[in-house]
Amino acid sequence: MRLTQTSDLWWKNAVVYCLDVETFKDGNDDGIGDFRGLTQQIDYLAGLGVTCLWLMPFFPTPNRDDGYDITDFYSIDPRLGTLGDFVEFMRTAKDRGLRVIADLVVNHTSDQHPWFKQARSSKDNPFRDWYVWSDTPEPDDPKQVVFPDKENSFWELDKDSGQYYLHSFYKHQPDLNVGNPQVRDEITRILGFWMELGLSGFRVDAVPFLIQNVSPKLPDPHDFLADLRAFMSRREGSSILLGEVNVPYDEALTYFGDGNGTELTMCFDFIAMQRAWLSLARSEAEPLASALRERPKPPKDCQWAMFLRNHDELTLDKLTDEERQEVFDAFGPSPDMQIYGRGLRRRLPTMLGGDLRRIKMAYSLLFSLPGTPVIFYGEEIGLGENLEAEGRMAVRIPMQWAPEGGFSKAEPDREMPGGAYAPERINVAAQKRDGDSLLRWFQLLIERYRECPELAWGEKRVLDCDHPAVLAHRCDADGATVLVVHNLSDTAADIELTLEGLAHCRLTDLLTDAVFDVGEDERVELPLDPHGSRWLRASAPDVPPEDASVKSQ
Ligand code: NOJ
Ligand code: CA
Repeated sequence: MRLTQTSDLWWKNAVVYCLDVETFKDGNDDGIGDFRGLTQQIDYLAGLGVTCLWLMPFFPTPNRDDGYDITDFYSIDPRLGTLGDFVEFMRTAKDRGLRVIADLVVNHTSDQHPWFKQARSSKDNPFRDWYVWSDTPEPDDPKQVVFPDKENSFWELDKDSGQYYLHSFYKHQPDLNVGNPQVRDEITRILGFWMELGLSGFRVDAVPFLIQNVSPKLPDPHDFLADLRAFMSRREGSSILLGEVNVPYDEALTYFGDGNGTELTMCFDFIAMQRAWLSLARSEAEPLASALRERPKPPKDCQWAMFLRNHDELTLDKLTDEERQEVFDAFGPSPDMQIYGRGLRRRLPTMLGGDLRRIKMAYSLLFSLPGTPVIFYGEEIGLGENLEAEGRMAVRIPMQWAPEGGFSKAEPDREMPGGAYAPERINVAAQKRDGDSLLRWFQLLIERYRECPELAWGEKRVLDCDHPAVLAHRCDADGATVLVVHNLSDTAADIELTLEGLAHCRLTDLLTDAVFDVGEDERVELPLDPHGSRWLRASAPDVPPEDASVKSQ
């Protein structure tokens, strides 16, 4: 048996690159990133090796939640360009073999959206029922509110009508009512519209909120997700839904669609992400290893999506209070680095103290963990953050292309960091010329990851390891094996592993070309540098490692 569908099920070993058009590249010198600027940088992205771009919201918006507050789902924020610019961008991305997905933010609209303006204009307006209303603020738990620095309830009084409307997030983001079939139809039209313009799918914002608290209650709220997925599959068989579903594993599994994979194609693995940070804080493999062992297998053709950082705070909400404190102590001790009492508003390199070995190890881990890696723009060069910016905006700084910034010829709308993370120190141009740079490391990891479809497609096993700081796992597919080891500590480690079925095999390190032989007792000894990592391909001694690999098709 051979893997035969790696390009049909492209998302299984995609490398997803999340970016905000507004902060990526300014093409018309007004200080704000735009589609023309992004289009100019497509070759950079293709050269990096990423295979799918995830665009954060680019729709018209009053921008009170960085674009997650939309006033028109069918057009482009004029600050970022025109629909014409968008289509040119899509054409260029397609030409370079890049797929594009976009944020689908339909749990709510901006309170400035014409639908909401209509809805609140009178109780009998046809749009009234597009939102969720109540005569009394329903009892809610202030501890559950998503943005506790700004809100203390999910319900807001609409003075004119005397009723309360539901807002799962900020009060200026009223929740759409997917209990209303007209709303469900409209959401479907939005998907159809952007798919016609070439999108391969969507990152679905706030999925659990989207299907909860609707009126009238749906017999099974998950049916709505299944309907959306079926609609998309009819239009374009290889399109995907990648869901933001920050819930415990057993519950997350239901969002793939009851064991049959008919809802979300991928769910972000918020649990492994948080445990990875705990592992990094402790320099111990166990928290992450146990998450990977506990994690349920998604239905066939579905996949977990892996990430270490994204555009929001690094949420630690699924850790215990003590564990969260450990991560705070290690990576964000000062109160201005923390947010909402549950997360950190920092990027990865600053949290890891700028230690390049450790940063490289963390990304090696990300790319080799079972699941589709998703990176946030700038991670490939080790962009820092700007703690002067408000809240989560700290990590949403302009991309640093050159020593002088290179983002815009004008003064950028958003500030870049100073000091060790200023553009003079951290930029694409310099890292392109430096063989040891983080950017080069990303290119190598992505190249190897794409050459090892076993990592994404194979059977995964976390191995028993005799060293507490070392995480070892293997992925087997169609008789081929890739073994991966990471040393989370800053001291060298010599480990010994038992590799079932691999007696007498040779292990070739795909990152350095070192080789190791597995004994007839199936044991192998592997030395690891401080924060060292190895990706090892197993082959029979007389078979070149390249021939022992499964090939993408
Ligand atoms: C999740 C998004 O990631 C976040 O940035 C946003 O504020 C909320 N959803 C509301 O849309
Ligand atoms: Ca611009």
